[in-house]
Amino acid sequence: MRTESTGETILQVDCVTKRLGTGAAAVTAVAEIDLSVRRGEMLLVMGPSGSGKTTLLTIMGGILKPTSGRVKINGTDITSMTESQLTKIRQKEVGFVFQSFNLIEYLSTIENVEIALNFAGISGRRARKRATELLTDLGLGDRLHFKSGDLSGGERQRVSIARAIANNPCLILADEPTANLDSKHGHQVVALLRDLAKQQDRCVVIVSHDPRIVDIADRVCWLEDGRLSDHQTLDASSLAQNRLIAPAPTILERPQEREAEEVLVRKAASNGDADASS
Ligand SMILES: Nc1ncnc2c1ncn2[C@@H]1O[C@H](COP(=O)(O)OP(=O)(O)O)[C@@H](O)[C@H]1O
Ligand SMILES: [Mg+2]
Repeated sequence: MRTESTGETILQVDCVTKRLGTGAAAVTAVAEIDLSVRRGEMLLVMGPSGSGKTTLLTIMGGILKPTSGRVKINGTDITSMTESQLTKIRQKEVGFVFQSFNLIEYLSTIENVEIALNFAGISGRRARKRATELLTDLGLGDRLHFKSGDLSGGERQRVSIARAIANNPCLILADEPTANLDSKHGHQVVALLRDLAKQQDRCVVIVSHDPRIVDIADRVCWLEDGRLSDHQTLDASSLAQNRLIAPAPTILERPQEREAEEVLVRKAASNGDADASS
């Protein structure tokens, strides 16, 4: 059974709106978003392509500033910070995991992790030791000196997770982390992100349109046209109790847009013999 997280609030999003583009091309990418996520909790924000997921995630992590509204990380308002203050927050408090891994191709596995440590002021033997430990923990001890081009997609995403947690951030933000992975590796990566929340007491937010992740999150919100729809804000544990989620899903290799909603509606309609305990 899932347990409610009782940890303190790590991420607080208050009435965040972001307008992008200018003139006739201007769009409101996200509108009036309110969210809070606790330590030890894994939140999934689902939504079709273009619904504002990446915009919201990049605002949460201080990459993009909202047009209005506030974001607090660990109690600190990052909204009015200068770029250099934000850089520090991103290095120390936030770990990003991207759909396309964003590894530096010409660096080795260990160097890709070391570089994140170097940016945060840890270098030399200390960085090498920390990177080695992290990668070994993630099952990549025999891949330390491989270039990322020589790794599988799942291995690359694990390297990017090692890089994301290198500086011990309290907040992990993952943008479509399974989109380029097959079902087995996608499942491993999501399980790993869940471990970061549950075993390491971090706060994890995943944005995705991969419906097979629904079962593994503590809480699921739906984003549509930049807005969180209240009536679709569902708590995964109450869904499980209502027997609406099917057991042990595998992650689709090529999730289709809007499939998330379709799957949920199907599962809700069938009211099948579900047991989402993990
Ligand atoms: N730089 C930009 N300029 C103008 N519009 C943008 C820009 N980036 C994203 N958008 C628009 O904002 C909306 C949300 O985009 P995005 O956050 O990337 O959605 P998602 O990640 O859910 O696919 C989309 O309509 C997209 O076209
Ligand atoms: Mg996106």
